[in-house]
Amino acid sequence: MSEINLDSLVSLCKRRGFIYQSSEIYGGLAAIYDYGPYGVELANNIKQLWWKDLVYQYDNIVGLDSAIFMHPKVWQASGHIANFSDPLVECRHCHSRLRADELLAQVGVKADETMSEASINQLFDDYRHLIVCPDCGQQDFTAVRRFNLLIQSNLGDFTGSRSEPVYLRGETCQGIYVNYKNIMDSTRLQLPFGIAQIGKAFRNEITARQFIFRTREFEQMELQYFIRPTEDLEEFNRWQERRWNYYIHNLGINPSNLQWHEHEKLAFYAKAAVDIEYKFPFGFQEIEGIHARGNYDLSQHQKFSGVKLDYYDPVADETFIPHIVEASSGVGRVFLMLLAEAYCEEVLPDGGTRTVLRLKPAVAPIKIAVFPLLRNRPELVAKAKTIFDQLKMQWRCEFDDNGNIGKRYRRQDEIGTPYSITVDFDTLDKNLVTVRDRDSMKQESVNVNELVAYLSSKLN
Ligand code: GAP
Repeated sequence: MSEINLDSLVSLCKRRGFIYQSSEIYGGLAAIYDYGPYGVELANNIKQLWWKDLVYQYDNIVGLDSAIFMHPKVWQASGHIANFSDPLVECRHCHSRLRADELLAQVGVKADETMSEASINQLFDDYRHLIVCPDCGQQDFTAVRRFNLLIQSNLGDFTGSRSEPVYLRGETCQGIYVNYKNIMDSTRLQLPFGIAQIGKAFRNEITARQFIFRTREFEQMELQYFIRPTEDLEEFNRWQERRWNYYIHNLGINPSNLQWHEHEKLAFYAKAAVDIEYKFPFGFQEIEGIHARGNYDLSQHQKFSGVKLDYYDPVADETFIPHIVEASSGVGRVFLMLLAEAYCEEVLPDGGTRTVLRLKPAVAPIKIAVFPLLRNRPELVAKAKTIFDQLKMQWRCEFDDNGNIGKRYRRQDEIGTPYSITVDFDTLDKNLVTVRDRDSMKQESVNVNELVAYLSSKLN
């Protein structure tokens, strides 16, 4: 794992059609990426597994798909307009815009992300003499100023005079908070219950240097779990355990590549906050945050909207504003983690090499590849097509008759396809195909009539 560098992953993603720079033919758009044919399959698998693990598994968790645009007051109530900012400095020499907390971290100084502009300026000035611009190597920086990350739009503003701009949402969970009452009213859910949502979020990130790790447009998977005020720590612990186990058992992450990061300084309303971090090629970094948020979010929305968001608990005969435990992760970060975890460059017994993505079948973009041994033998191609058409209704499959079989195996290894099936003359004579396992590279003869059962036992 430690030998994997980010460049190898970036290059594989481009070469094999996982991820492209957005608008590449126009020179690209910084920190925005497009997911190509295999990337969209992998991302969809990540989202489906998350959804199944929460919405399908728990009877008291329901889904939501709220709009990206929300009333401007949502962002006042949430505190994003006042506080959702990063500390920005500019290099006077090359004009790179950089995060002051990241520059301080490079010289071993920890800056708290919640620090005021004055405090972070003071800290930056104390260490200015040590800090070097990563882009040009000079040491000439402006003062630090707080830069708000919300992205404004001109939605519905036809004259350019609107005083309250509409923002692209900076996190998806606000859509959950403002729909909490609708969902309670239209379902029979009682505490504790959860609302899960997957969707796009947008942030004007200052630095975006780690491929899809930090982007300006990204997808979040957020669970908000509504609980009684006395249940904060119990549910917080329960969700920590569930989410940790999810990464190990459902996504196949090696536990030695995961660690907890406990927040030292909590937001004033929070009861507890931890992150699950993964050992990326650039070090341990957050993939998911689990936070006990108290009743801050619903209280704020009640205050700003004037609508009562409390809950009558028939068991205790009490009325209160529910507390929330949140589990929030990013599709792009989980995607990058899965690639880093699965990526392997191997020397083969014959001295050759191969790159293989050892993805769990559940996340692999393509589950099965089907090859006719020779593309110029119509009877082999026709038989391979029949098998492919049968399998593709059940699994995402790919048909490939291009190049020699060795090259076709290499292509599938690089995109992480767990099984490749070759249709040869034994298929025509004896109804047997060769199934090759991606990881062991072992080949097995399987009767065509037993193929679906064989693959089901391996893949499902
Ligand atoms: N509602 C809580 C919230 O949004 P966050 O820590 O800012 O908390 C949650 O974001 C998750 O969203 C992170 O753990 C990360 O996986 C993902 N995420 C946040 N900012 C991101 C960015 N700029 N690019 C990609 N993923 C991001």
